Amino acid sequence: MNQLAEQQLKEKIRQGHILESPDEMTEGYRKALIVQLTVQGDTELISAPAYWMAAQDAPSTNTQVSAVAIIQDELAHANIAYRLLEDMGVSREYLLYERAPHEFKHPYGFDQPLESWVELVVANGFFDRAGFTLLGDVFKNTSYGPLKRALVKVDIEENFHLRHGENWMKRLVKLGGEAREKLQRAVDWMFPMTIEWFGLPDDLKRHSGQLDYKLKGMTNDELRQAWMAATVPLCESLGLKAPAHWDEAQQKYVLEYPFPCRYDAAAKHWLFDEGEISWDEVFQRWKARGPMNERYVESVRRSHGSMRKLLQVA
Ligand SMILES: [Fe+2]
Ligand SMILES: [Fe+2]
Repeated sequence: MNQLAEQQLKEKIRQGHILESPDEMTEGYRKALIVQLTVQGDTELISAPAYWMAAQDAPSTNTQVSAVAIIQDELAHANIAYRLLEDMGVSREYLLYERAPHEFKHPYGFDQPLESWVELVVANGFFDRAGFTLLGDVFKNTSYGPLKRALVKVDIEENFHLRHGENWMKRLVKLGGEAREKLQRAVDWMFPMTIEWFGLPDDLKRHSGQLDYKLKGMTNDELRQAWMAATVPLCESLGLKAPAHWDEAQQKYVLEYPFPCRYDAAAKHWLFDEGEISWDEVFQRWKARGPMNERYVESVRRSHGSMRKLLQVA
């Protein structure tokens, strides 16, 4: 890597320069943006089969249609990220169809089965809120012009998704009884899942190229706090127990359980009692991927194979 060119580009970006084409990128910038867009595209893509699984449990036709509208948005968002990657010389065919399922870069949370309408709406309330937090930061701060413009549409739609989740959570709380209990059970596993999604705490995080190149503006801990600032009050207002609270002395949200910790994917249960574990153990779990990884990837590929066969026959 040409260190001088990297330093010069970082300096230009610090002064507010916006890149408009891959020709302007250094190797370091290009690599960092490819990682960011791959995570973004894969997360959007794999949310589609995850939400589709849960949409089977929709309480009525019209509610299923609203879930399908969200799924359609997610596929369009994935296409935006992959399209930008294509501009940078990365093959979309490779990204979509040639990687092994475990090579996808979406968060571990989207490797989990979403098995009910309740889990879908909590995913909208929590996971789409995480997407909105992460992408909202990229939208505000990115030094890559084409991505900034593309995110206008994504931002508006993610806001719609999380409102869908929050409104439904309110409705389910009002219903009470079993619906409310199911809601609490979903919060119990999905809250820590989203907390973990934001990654290594700042004191352990290696130096971040994404911040130096202004591909994002906030650190992992800042993003985690921003998510909790929306989600903890939401849960409190609904009388749902979330394992975090505002700490007046520290002027921040604090977790009420050991972080990070072990997860029993089959039982959808966090093993708080076993105490704090190392991030190496978390990375191993992420790398091994979760229970739905292969099925979700296969399900977005299914039509591709048969289309090919059809075209060969014709
Ligand atoms: Fe999305
Ligand atoms: Fe979304």
